[in-house]
Amino acid sequence: MSILKQKIEELQNRKAKTMLGGGEKSIAKQKEMGKKTARERIDALLDKDSFLEYDLFIQHEAREFGMLGKEMPADGVIIGTGKINNNTVAVFAQDFTVAGGSLGFMHAKKITKIMDVALNNRIPLIGINDSGGARIQEGVGALAGYGEIFYRNTISSGVIPQLSVILGPCAGGAVYSPALTDFVFVVEGVSKMFITGPDVIKTVLGEEISQEDLGGARVHSEISGNAHFCAQTEEECFNQIRTLLDYIPQNNNKESIIKAEAKEPVAKTKIETIVPDDPKIPYDVRELIKSVTDGSDFFEVQAAFAPNIVIGYGRINGETIGFIANQPDALAGVLDCDSADKAARFIRFCDSFNIPLVTFEDLPGYLPGIEQEHMGVIRHGAKILYAYSEATVPRITVILRKAYGGGYIAMNSRHLQADFVFAWPLAEIAVMGAEGAANVIFRKDIAGAENPVEERSRKIQEYKDKFANPYVAAGKGFVDAVIEPCETRKYLIHALDICKNKKVERPCKKHGNPPF
Ligand code: HXC
Repeated sequence: MSILKQKIEELQNRKAKTMLGGGEKSIAKQKEMGKKTARERIDALLDKDSFLEYDLFIQHEAREFGMLGKEMPADGVIIGTGKINNNTVAVFAQDFTVAGGSLGFMHAKKITKIMDVALNNRIPLIGINDSGGARIQEGVGALAGYGEIFYRNTISSGVIPQLSVILGPCAGGAVYSPALTDFVFVVEGVSKMFITGPDVIKTVLGEEISQEDLGGARVHSEISGNAHFCAQTEEECFNQIRTLLDYIPQNNNKESIIKAEAKEPVAKTKIETIVPDDPKIPYDVRELIKSVTDGSDFFEVQAAFAPNIVIGYGRINGETIGFIANQPDALAGVLDCDSADKAARFIRFCDSFNIPLVTFEDLPGYLPGIEQEHMGVIRHGAKILYAYSEATVPRITVILRKAYGGGYIAMNSRHLQADFVFAWPLAEIAVMGAEGAANVIFRKDIAGAENPVEERSRKIQEYKDKFANPYVAAGKGFVDAVIEPCETRKYLIHALDICKNKKVERPCKKHGNPPF
């Protein structure tokens, strides 16, 4: 056998051994939990045969607590580059079969290397997290590693899309890094996210809770809002990632936007029949979005969290649009702490990546109440004002029905410098609904009337006649056009075309100070 042949054989043996990760027993345990291995995940996510791995032979340098000489194949994380939908991406996948995917100093060095590759080459970063967080035996070396990762997450924010996939019990830094990224994907029964797991909670606080109840997929996609997409299986999750990457650009350069082929909507429901005339009757605003998008496609983000606002992607004339819409089907579409947070972060992502915004408005205002006030609805509610005002991408609003009070201003009003505001004939733009308004401003007239019930009805009608229409706002130029529902897509196409070279200057500053 030639020397080269011997060396190649040695390489192949070394590779095969390292690629086994924590070994067959640990892999079997991973499978019992319904999980794929880290390598299977990369293969399942990326285009066939497109992955190229870096740093397979990295060695850890820990010495304490029996770590000296302990083998940690690939130090528990796989990194590399490949393709999804034929576009390049950078990927890391933590290997739970090696010390629970815990992050030591060299493991972190691998992740930061691939993060640098992603940023320097302006390609999306996808992190598959399956890790117990900082490797306890490595102490400050592990903490340092997480610091380096958080720094890069922050610096890359707004330059390249960063996607985090949670595919196992993830603790500590393994959830803080995802929290700094743009989108978090979870899978039911597989994903768990917490700062510290149930064991530590029991020791420190004496409280008992399962991993699932503490930080399962449903907890984070419905209650905490930490997750953006929830799937039933890892395969479905990877499909969601592929779909998302089809809508968003590779980076924040305008040239990286890929236009799709334009298509007409195919929704069967007629747009005029979606929104009931009576402002108190709810409906599903997603039907309305689908009635204007190409092929009636709509890819919803954070569907189960704060359902009173709907956010997501669709296309108009081949171009990706970020939709934000009050959802009358949930809490009448009010703005509250969670819905304001949800919309604001989405608006900022779209603005960073040159994705135009279309807003559909139908809401009674901000949600009043002690709970909301004490949760900080002032601070949270201000985020949506800030996000819209700051955004320089094309911004178009269609007022469908109710546009009351602070809600009217917040939902991308002309006063926050929307590029176009259209209103349907059903639109009511006022400080509040006619009933509430009559109770306040005509209280004395109603109380002093011979027949207070009749007087109240008269006053409500008087207020409605004056304000429950789009024409007062249109008369002041706050609404550019009152349009028929069937004209909505036509007006949106026109407005987006007008705005395609939009350029607005902002005062020179280091950065703003949004109400985080
Ligand atoms: C070293 C770890 C580890 C860790 C797990 N393992 N987490 N090793 N450091 N952080 C090892 C286990 O010892 C075990 O090794 C193997 O991984 C599998 O773990 P299990 O506990 O058997 O699995 P499971 O029951 O599924 O529980 C998973 C878990 C739990 C919930 C993640 O292991 C856990 O609570 N780990 C500690 C989590 C934590 O508090 N991490 C520190 C976070 S602080 P063997 O050899 O037995 O198979 C942090 C700092 C950054 O991250 C904070 C930034 C703000």
